[in-house]
Amino acid sequence: MSRRISIAVVGSGYVGLVAAACFAELGHRVVCVDNDEAKVRMLREGGVPIHEKYLPGLLKRHRSDRLEFTHDLRAAVRAAQAVFIAVGTPQSQTGSADLSYVDVVASEIAHAIDGYKVVVEKSTVPVYTNEWIRRVMARNGVSQQLFDVASNPEFLREGTAVTDFLHADRIVLGVESERAAEMLQQIYEPLSSGAYYQSEHAIPGARTAGDPPPVLLTSTKAAEIIKHASNAFLATKISFINVVANICEAAGADVEEVARGMGMDSRIGPRFLQAGVGYGGSCFPKDVAAFRHVAEQMNVDFGLLREVEKINTEQRRRFFLKVRSALWTFRGKRIAVLGLAFKGGTDDIRESPALDVVEQMLHEGAIIRAYDPAAAERAQEVIPPGPRMQYVEDVYAAAEDADAVVILNDWQEFAELDLQRLRSILRYPIMVDARNLYDPTAMAKLGFSYLSIGRAAVLPSRHPREAGDLAEAYPNLLLA
Ligand code: UGA
Repeated sequence: MSRRISIAVVGSGYVGLVAAACFAELGHRVVCVDNDEAKVRMLREGGVPIHEKYLPGLLKRHRSDRLEFTHDLRAAVRAAQAVFIAVGTPQSQTGSADLSYVDVVASEIAHAIDGYKVVVEKSTVPVYTNEWIRRVMARNGVSQQLFDVASNPEFLREGTAVTDFLHADRIVLGVESERAAEMLQQIYEPLSSGAYYQSEHAIPGARTAGDPPPVLLTSTKAAEIIKHASNAFLATKISFINVVANICEAAGADVEEVARGMGMDSRIGPRFLQAGVGYGGSCFPKDVAAFRHVAEQMNVDFGLLREVEKINTEQRRRFFLKVRSALWTFRGKRIAVLGLAFKGGTDDIRESPALDVVEQMLHEGAIIRAYDPAAAERAQEVIPPGPRMQYVEDVYAAAEDADAVVILNDWQEFAELDLQRLRSILRYPIMVDARNLYDPTAMAKLGFSYLSIGRAAVLPSRHPREAGDLAEAYPNLLLA
């Protein structure tokens, strides 16, 4: 039988806000704390600061009842049984995670605490952070009886954050005491028992009452490492397939076929084998660097991760060179850019490979018209609009009279383009696709020169040369 727990979530970024809304959805009483007063006001007034499916609905459903927003950390902590720390852990100059926000919040919790609380790390943090939090509490004179520190890493992806939370592959609870374990299990009980999935208002997803997410109880240190190691492993998988894609290009094979064949091995699995322009976002680049740094601190050589990072950087450059090889030079060329966010389904542009490629093209004199369904506003803060950089409202406005269209992220909309229309408005029917959204043979038939990742480039099939013989037509293609 599920019990309602009073929860404070400190930090209302992607992880904090989604966790707060989802805890409320599970029936708990939640106060979400942020020191950004403007953001708190916006959330109170019904605003939604991030683009995330189902989040506006959840916030609306629970705002007037079990979900509150405040900048008063002290009051929120006092009212809570469990305090989740979900503040940012950005990358410091050395590559390690900057834990100063966690440090500040831990001291503030220490000053507020007036009864037993479970303090839970929800942000991605290096192993031993739990011990630091414990030390901060002790330094501030908090008795050990008054708190436990636990780790409950979050595995949600931006764009599908709510479903990832409520339909998790697993729920990891890193705990050192029965009392903390019991409280965290109570919090997740509606999911782990399957009860949540029986509700008619449940957010739909892969989990059902008969197949609820498993709960894994571990030590706090193991939970911290599970999070870092999972992200580093997924990033490794992506860099691995990107190198395989480069081999496919050189050998004349199709990386999509290769990835399918590899993914059918249940030990490998099909997911995160999508070759592209390299990983980006606020997590993988930062977490790979932080995990490598953790290893260094412990005198463990994790050179593999250095290689993963190197491949990722090179993949962006390689893609840029591919676009250039299709156009010969960039100066004065009009490029339609589709996609600015680090992936489809989000407005997040942090560490976006798309922006990196756009900057490289601008640097070489290209004239860009860019479209992204959600990220244009944020992108403008990094690359301001100007005579050579325009942000437009739709794909076709970007493509009008362009010398080429370049797809940089995988919004569903970009996989469903009206290709006839696109071809008719482009000055030259050239598409360079960093996400392999189209079938090369079909593109050639439609009259496109189409370059993608890990697959042979094709020319329009009405061209005298056979599709696939692009290297002869453009001698510097792929040699650049
Ligand atoms: C990632 C993890 O997938 C989540 O499990 C984790 O909780 C999150 O980081 C975090 O630590 O907070 P996210 O950054 O939202 O989630 O995005 P992903 O969907 O994992 O994509 C990351 C990058 O890898 C994107 O640039 C994406 O385009 C790229 N990617 C992903 C590929 O190039 N190929 C793939 O097969 C998959």
